[in-house]
Amino acid sequence: MLGQDSLRSLAQSLGIEAVWKDETRSTNADAIALAEGGAPDLTVVAAGHQTAGRGRLGRSWEAPPGSSLLMSIVLRTDVRPERLPLVSLLVALHLVDACHDVLALSAALKWPNDVVVEDRKLAGVLPEAKVSGGAVDYVVVGLGLNLRQGPEDFPPEIRLGATSAALEGADVSDAAECDLVTHFLTELSAFEPGQPGWAEAVVESARHNCVTLGRDVRATTLDGGAVEGRARDLDPSGGLVLDTAEGARVVAFGEVQHVRPAG
Ligand code: BTN
Repeated sequence: MLGQDSLRSLAQSLGIEAVWKDETRSTNADAIALAEGGAPDLTVVAAGHQTAGRGRLGRSWEAPPGSSLLMSIVLRTDVRPERLPLVSLLVALHLVDACHDVLALSAALKWPNDVVVEDRKLAGVLPEAKVSGGAVDYVVVGLGLNLRQGPEDFPPEIRLGATSAALEGADVSDAAECDLVTHFLTELSAFEPGQPGWAEAVVESARHNCVTLGRDVRATTLDGGAVEGRARDLDPSGGLVLDTAEGARVVAFGEVQHVRPAG
């Protein structure tokens, strides 16, 4: 497991601020509190256990103590509010890269920002942003990466659709976890949304890594509605373009179920 000393030393080497908690309610809540207090870009909060972990769409995120990488990062960027989905897409893509490069997992992106191995969910990303006066004040991105869980560590209702790095045969030693965090944060620290073409580059990279494209999906939108169709593409804002019986439809936010196996 990551801990106080290893987090401090990797943060020092990257020149960023980091806070370790053996136990907390939610690292996203902690990071938001730090951001409200003026914490700088790339401030990291990581924990060994969460007692009120938050998932997407108002769900909870639960993991046994020491089983997972539980980490939230404060991002201060000049990105326009309508481009926030691209920021979480970018974070998920960096996590895919780190799982691939460091843990040698065949990790991929499931729209909008899950990391999967052959359709089994390995990690989730939860963005929470503060927008004031039409501008982004900060974004907190939290990630929960299943590292050491066995099948019985997942609740029965998600067991079949979930996996961990250990279950996929990866090295889940403390050293491997530190290398993964270093790889991920190093890539993330190169993020400069002001650079021309960054948004196009994120979408292009997502197109190459997204296992949702080409699949028949049922998309649940934030208002609880459902749309079915074949996922054809990503639009310039990172929304999912679906071919439905009624024509093309873009789902900007929400989540999808793959309703037909890959291939
Ligand atoms: C999802 O529902 O797929 C996103 C889950 C994100 C969970 C992580 S764990 C660390 C951070 N703190 C939280 O409370 N949630 C995120």
